[in-house]
Amino acid sequence: MRSIREILKKAADKLIESRNTNTPVLDAELLLLHVLKQSGMEFDRIKLLTQSGYLVDERAAGKYMSLIDERSKGKPVQYITQKQEFMGFELFVKEGVLIPRADTETVVEKVLEKASGMNKPNIIDMCTGSGAIAVSLAGNIPDGRVWAADISDIALECCRINAARYGFEKRIRVIKSDLFENIKEEGLIGNTDVIVSNPPYIESEAIKGLDVNVRCYEPHLALDGGKDGLVYYRRIVNDASEFLKHNGIIAFEVGYDQGDRVKNIMEESGHYEDINIEKDLSGCDRCVWGRKKLFGE
Ligand SMILES: C[S@@+](CC[C@H](N)C(=O)[O-])C[C@H]1O[C@@H](n2cnc3c(N)ncnc32)[C@H](O)[C@@H]1O
Repeated sequence: MRSIREILKKAADKLIESRNTNTPVLDAELLLLHVLKQSGMEFDRIKLLTQSGYLVDERAAGKYMSLIDERSKGKPVQYITQKQEFMGFELFVKEGVLIPRADTETVVEKVLEKASGMNKPNIIDMCTGSGAIAVSLAGNIPDGRVWAADISDIALECCRINAARYGFEKRIRVIKSDLFENIKEEGLIGNTDVIVSNPPYIESEAIKGLDVNVRCYEPHLALDGGKDGLVYYRRIVNDASEFLKHNGIIAFEVGYDQGDRVKNIMEESGHYEDINIEKDLSGCDRCVWGRKKLFGE
């Protein structure tokens, strides 16, 4: 049997050597916590340090090194542990669904600000993935109802699990849909308060230049925004307007260099006013939102 200190060192060395992670020590610790938890031992990162002499049994150590092997090939920690934290919610994720990013919290916070004061808002989370946006909106807007749409079966499976994990099954309706196609029968035309979306927005050609952790493991369906990265924005901007109430809010996550272009798409559609670009904590464009105009105004 080897101590926590010994196997952590061996794991971190293997990850450093692989060059497939910028956070080898953290990854080694998170995966060890995962394996220890599966063996019925509740450790945290502090306890790994203070009890570094604790002996890990051979079976757990073997399992751990097989997970380190997967991580060394580039598989993200979140797909190995099947979880990711988002807005304080622990979400189930698995290969085939995008791992929710902290950047997306900027969009959720803007929507929460704009939705405050709305009475029983009807919200569409278009391209919901694991349901990160849907769950955090349902969790923070107790009288809100969310329609969570995606075209991917794995995304819908994760979204359903996450909605159920927090008891939101009655307030999050999970729908398989190619954008708005299957939303039309939901009674939401002209009756939607908020449409929010983090659609695929990477330029097709740029995908092959992404880090191996993303390029080889995350679903391209969740990343590929077409030739100029803006294909989904154009479609959603056009289709969303018939669903929104007058003054309803549309909010997008955008890439760091897409703010002006998405704003232009919204302006040119003629459906929206009061269009704003919001920055994330790093000072990059991250969210574009606007209000539905009353036609003829
Ligand atoms: C960038 S991911 C965002 C996931 C999630 N909203 C998040 O922030 O973590 C984009 C999502 O769009 C979905 N998607 C791609 N094409 C779609 C389509 N035509 N209709 C609906 N969803 C689509 C993908 O399956 C993926 O889950």
